[in-house]
Amino acid sequence: MSTEATKTEVGSYFISNYPPYSQWNTEMIPQVLDAFGQTPQAPKADEQGLELPPLGLYLHIPFCRKRCKFCYFKVFTNVNADAIERYVSALCQEISLVAQQPFMKDRQFRFVYFGGGTPSFLSVKQLESLMDRLHEHVSWNGAEEVTFECEPGTLSQPKIQALKALGVTRLSLGVENFSDAILEENGRAHLSKEVYRAWEWIAEADFANVNIDLISGMVGETWENWRENIRKTLELSPESVTIYQMELPFNTVYSKGILESQSESAVATWPTKRDWVRYAFDVFQENGYTISSAYTVIKDPKKVSFSYRDNLWRGSDLLATGIASFGHIGGVHYQNVPEWDRYLGMILDENRLPIGRAYRPTPHQSLIREMILQLKKGYLEVEYFRRKFHVDIVQQWQSEWDAYASEGYVVLPTSSSSSDAMIRLTTDGMLRVDGLLPVFFEPQFRNVRYT
Ligand SMILES: C[S@@+](CC[C@H](N)C(=O)[O-])C[C@H]1O[C@@H](n2cnc3c(N)ncnc32)[C@H](O)[C@@H]1O
Ligand code: SF4
Repeated sequence: MSTEATKTEVGSYFISNYPPYSQWNTEMIPQVLDAFGQTPQAPKADEQGLELPPLGLYLHIPFCRKRCKFCYFKVFTNVNADAIERYVSALCQEISLVAQQPFMKDRQFRFVYFGGGTPSFLSVKQLESLMDRLHEHVSWNGAEEVTFECEPGTLSQPKIQALKALGVTRLSLGVENFSDAILEENGRAHLSKEVYRAWEWIAEADFANVNIDLISGMVGETWENWRENIRKTLELSPESVTIYQMELPFNTVYSKGILESQSESAVATWPTKRDWVRYAFDVFQENGYTISSAYTVIKDPKKVSFSYRDNLWRGSDLLATGIASFGHIGGVHYQNVPEWDRYLGMILDENRLPIGRAYRPTPHQSLIREMILQLKKGYLEVEYFRRKFHVDIVQQWQSEWDAYASEGYVVLPTSSSSSDAMIRLTTDGMLRVDGLLPVFFEPQFRNVRYT
């Protein structure tokens, strides 16, 4: 019943939201503008207590030294300093626009995330100027987590020290692989020596959490090399490791090549990629790490929490800024426009929020969204959904859960009515979690394009 093919075909995707992005539209834009115009309302007492949902800030920095052949993010390469300055100015003006909205009244950021693209592409001067200008409009002094994504070859010792001084608590490093031949084949701009060079400076700066990203299934990957990747990652002893299974969404260089030449994908099959992640999870666990989601292991669960991920997956508000960013406020999803000139023009020339499409999920769709996202952590607390959405999720999707239980992907609670009832994924279920999710989509969204 899971929806996964064996081969890694073009069009595979990573589920990060619901309803699918392709369903968001321009007609719902007034609803986001309306949400920005209201002071936020606490949910009713019987839902989540009387507290407002946590609020996060996402800032998209869309520049990279080179476009990796597997990457599906909105990125620009070969951009000059003037264009970067214009973008940073627009981003700051966007933040000033949102900061003035009634929705922001008395709200503090619980978490902040600089994502990309490559935020670390910015020079120390550009970073300091960005932060100074941002702080004129918003403060994240009370935030429990400030994440900053880095590409190893863009780092220098002064830049890492600047990030620390600017309040970054979680640094996420895109290592991906330790083989230079594989890094080059996949179009990465960095080589492994740049990882080791940066690591010394990172260790010296002593961030609360340093995460390493790896990808299972880069073109050219072998069992022998994968074991080396895991051994070398362990040697660095990061607080957390995120392992993605290689996807081939439509907009990657690899996908376009495959479609043009009608050739077979050179990416390993899904069973092989899963075996590599299974191996990695086993070795990390033998070395004291704990599995914290289908993609992440952490060294010390008491020390490291993932505020961004955990809050977002529980329906927090997320103020998304920057070109093509996705956010969610006051019950409405929205995405900023993805075109460079339009994004800059709407903010700098028209002084208005650059929102390109939106969607207001129904309460049932919000339930599905939280359920499929939280399932990625490997378990669902049945009581949480009963309290928040007044639905018993075991009974609601009984036949889907039963099918997954018989296939060995989930273990169901003996009684879903008990307050500590849990639906748990088995390791087999964890390793294919993205393939298990579409059956929970409403019928009208099952066969639509995702993005
Ligand atoms: C925005 S990048 C991280 C920062 C920086 N741009 C870098 O690559 O070093 C986010 C992560 O997405 C992952 N990623 C990108 N394209 C992917 C794909 N097609 N399949 C799986 N993971 C992918 C990579 O592991 C990458 O580190
Ligand atoms: S994976 Fe990272 S460095 Fe590579 S193109 Fe994507 S965002 Fe840029």
